[in-house]
Amino acid sequence: MPRQSVWFIRLALSYLFLGFTFGALMLSNKGLAYAPWLWRLLPAHIEILLVGWTAQLAMGVIFWIAPRFQSSRGDVRPIWGALLLLNAGIWAVIAGVVVDLQGWNVVIGRLAQMAAMAIFAWHTWPRIKPTGK
Ligand code: HEM
Repeated sequence: MPRQSVWFIRLALSYLFLGFTFGALMLSNKGLAYAPWLWRLLPAHIEILLVGWTAQLAMGVIFWIAPRFQSSRGDVRPIWGALLLLNAGIWAVIAGVVVDLQGWNVVIGRLAQMAAMAIFAWHTWPRIKPTGK
């Protein structure tokens, strides 16, 4: 497995753990009502599990498994950039929705995530083809 996929998948698994923990806290709080502020974690729960876990896992596995050119995945530097932008975007959005910083945090975070996805798609596009067998 390429090192980029290792990091996509390691990070995705960390988000899975964090997102499920937030979910379990909110669920227990729904029954026991011990800390009403826990509801503030809902947008982070959604962001972490939908983007941090689901999208990031897909990107890591796709980069690993899509057909290669001979044995190469091409110039991998844009993929490092996509990894960085995606995760910076996730934390910018979380800062915006949970910690209640300015709304522009969410806008910047979403733009970073969109850039990460666009770079990833542009890099992966030529690899999406039959293997030729
Ligand atoms: C990949 C896994 C998951 C994803 C993508 C996910 C996503 C979501 C989304 C989108 C919502 C908002 C739903 C709405 O507002 O109608 C939500 C709410 C919630 N989730 Fe998750 N979730 C996941 C796993 C979990 C797990 C494992 C738990 C508990 C251990 C959990 C506990 C909750 C709770 C308590 C709510 C609030 C429900 C309410 O509004 O009453 N989630 N989740």
